[in-house]
Amino acid sequence: MKKRAARIFQPTPRNLAYLAARLRAGELVAVPTETVYGLAANAMDEHACRKIFRAKGRPSSDPLIVHIRSLAQLPLLCEPNPAALRLAKKFWPGPLTLVLPKKVAVPDVVSAGRPSVAIRMPHHPVFRKLLRLANLPLAAPSANRFGYVSPTTSEHVRLGLGTRISYILEGGACSLGLESTIVDLRDPRRPRLLRPGIVTQAEIEAVLQLRVGRLKRSTRAEIQNGQLAPGLLKRHYSPNTPVSLHSRLRTTRALATPREAFLFTARPTAAADNIFWLDAQGHLSKAARRLFAMLRQLDRAGFNCIHVELVRGGGLADAINDRLRRAAAR
Ligand code: TXA
Ligand code: MG
Repeated sequence: MKKRAARIFQPTPRNLAYLAARLRAGELVAVPTETVYGLAANAMDEHACRKIFRAKGRPSSDPLIVHIRSLAQLPLLCEPNPAALRLAKKFWPGPLTLVLPKKVAVPDVVSAGRPSVAIRMPHHPVFRKLLRLANLPLAAPSANRFGYVSPTTSEHVRLGLGTRISYILEGGACSLGLESTIVDLRDPRRPRLLRPGIVTQAEIEAVLQLRVGRLKRSTRAEIQNGQLAPGLLKRHYSPNTPVSLHSRLRTTRALATPREAFLFTARPTAAADNIFWLDAQGHLSKAARRLFAMLRQLDRAGFNCIHVELVRGGGLADAINDRLRRAAAR
């Protein structure tokens, strides 16, 4: 029997109450966040969380982020330390995820068997209303099929998961457009950046008054022995069309190869049907917001290859280039 397609719910009080009840009953709801859309389930319900992995086609070895609405929920889920609380105070609600030692109340499916749990307090007003009504911590990875580009609109979610889930909550296009920054704070004296994002390494270092480490090749060992999550290094967020990265793109090349797409950061002077840009002026926050929608659009357009110019600069450029490298990884 064919499964009913997902329905997109406007965030009316009545719909929010209904979807909160679905979550409390152990069902999945796709939710808007300021970063990307997430696929949410009751984080304390092992059975509900298993459905997330099935719907996404995600390996059970890749742990989920737990979303909370107030700091009072923190001690139920993890063992916070002063460094974590300082970051939480500065950046929550917002696009920052903290990895901390896990409490036993969090089911092992959520952490994929690790003794740590990733936690974030989101900023999106619609998601916050749902969190309050459901009155539960909600586990939610990005609401895409495993390995594909993250969704930044409800329509992206419907296109990817529409036959696998029933409920999508409308919250408009995501205002930030890149997944949260993830910081490992299990050892507060040795913070590590596990995924760059809108909250930059420099901002985190300024709050902690400490150097923040990065993932290195040696981290593979930690991933293999289950200390770190596999999703952190692997190919991710990839369109089906091959992506090729360049430090500088030339429009002359674009004009010579019309079957290949050329994606610039800012609008170039030459124009053609295969020339695209992330933001006319090259503003990085606008470029970040449009990146995933643009990769999806180019993936559907039937080009043989997508050539992309890496973004210049630090901070946000670091996060955008991280996603581009993952999109290009084979
Ligand atoms: O902005 C975001 O973070 C979005 C929205 C929905 O909140 N969520 C998101 O989730 O990007 P996801 O599952 O697509 O990416 C989360 C990453 C995973 O790749 C996983 O490897 C890592 O976080 N992660 C989760 N728990 C972890 C843990 N205990 N230790 C290390 N990494 C963890
Ligand atoms: Mg994801």
